[in-house]
Amino acid sequence: MTQADKSTFPRLLIMVAGAKGAIGTTIAAALAELHRDQQAIFCGLTTAAKFPRLGDPGRIQMAGWDKADASMAERVRLHGVLPEAVRQSHSARLSQLDIRPAPADNAPMSAQVEQIRADMQAFMAANPGAQPVLLNLLPAAWDAGQCQRLETLEALLKAAGPGMPDLGYTLAALLSGIPVVNFSPNSVELPLICREAATRGVPLAGRDGKTGQTYFKVVLASALKARCLYVDGWYSLNILGNADGRNLMDPDRACGKLHNKTQLLDDILGYEVGERYDAASHIVRIDYYPPRGDAKEAWDVIDFKGIFGLPMSLRLNLQGRDSILAAPMAIDLARWAVAAKKAGISGPIADLGFYFKKPVGPNPPLTFQEQLAALERLEKRIEENWVDEQTARE
Ligand SMILES: NC(=O)c1ccc[n+]([C@@H]2O[C@H](COP(=O)([O-])OP(=O)(O)OC[C@H]3O[C@@H](n4cnc5c(N)ncnc54)[C@H](O)[C@@H]3O)[C@@H](O)[C@H]2O)c1
Repeated sequence: MTQADKSTFPRLLIMVAGAKGAIGTTIAAALAELHRDQQAIFCGLTTAAKFPRLGDPGRIQMAGWDKADASMAERVRLHGVLPEAVRQSHSARLSQLDIRPAPADNAPMSAQVEQIRADMQAFMAANPGAQPVLLNLLPAAWDAGQCQRLETLEALLKAAGPGMPDLGYTLAALLSGIPVVNFSPNSVELPLICREAATRGVPLAGRDGKTGQTYFKVVLASALKARCLYVDGWYSLNILGNADGRNLMDPDRACGKLHNKTQLLDDILGYEVGERYDAASHIVRIDYYPPRGDAKEAWDVIDFKGIFGLPMSLRLNLQGRDSILAAPMAIDLARWAVAAKKAGISGPIADLGFYFKKPVGPNPPLTFQEQLAALERLEKRIEENWVDEQTARE
């Protein structure tokens, strides 16, 4: 490879499971926009000024898998996240992306893993020199509870069955030494996977991106805690009309997400909200409401108390855009995960708790201040331990 080639090749290769979903297509359009107007995207990245040794954040390539047949450009249109003018200006670039069919759901897990690994090798061969990372954007799905106690990868490959697509992608990345970002709410970080990731030098970042309502919940709960204001109840309602919202109408698929959105409040505050009542007083609801599409709306009613036990109340109304909030975070996380790999950090990275509803790994930071401090600590650790292949060979 010549010096000129090196400077134009992408530095990062994000391989996306669920590439044609609302977030995946928004990421694809954002990466395309980076070639035209960097500032429009850079202004929304928390890592734009971090990790200079990862190279130009504008030179990121994307590939991936999806079950949907329609082209990327058509999927952008269907999701309705982006203005038509943006879709049209990038449709040629979007159609060139290498997005491959997902493995068949009913194929044995070992065959799924082999297919995904072969695709990963092909993506990497087409992007020489780029640092690969797997980004899991699959729909909310399953609880891998039955695999929690397995001791070996061989046993896991045999036990895991159809309906566990997240596991196929995660195992393929693990066996290929590729870092994993799990943006989905699916609990794929089994004890065995965490152990194997730690020994194989694979960073795991997850799970369940903290994009909107839960992000502000952490900020407000941390602020109330800092002032010793007692939270008596917290009612959170969401309406959204995208495919994620429709999927979450299935109670079995929603339970992981609702758990991730609920548990963190007690963890931050250090007591059980509603402890003096005979029923929970931290309530989270998600309702599918088609007219809204991706333009999600959330309401929070927060009841809290001051001295003399006198009650007060706060209302929060967020009118967000699900995928517009999620896509830059997913790009940031891909950069963090690759940077962590460069610094020899492996296994679940609890210090990335700022980005997740349910950070995996030991002792994750809980309050907003702790989460910001953990990010600073992690960045410093990465910069101090960074090893480039070239330096390592010398
Ligand atoms: N938008 C947010 O703010 C947010 C926040 C946190 C977590 N999440 C999670 O991120 C995930 C992605 O969200 P989204 O809005 O893009 O969802 P989506 O439903 O629009 O996209 C999911 C994509 O996965 C594809 N898919 C299904 N099975 C597959 C398989 N086996 N292999 C490959 N592709 C497959 C679908 O065809 C679809 O294109 C969801 O799990 C969601 O809960 C989203």
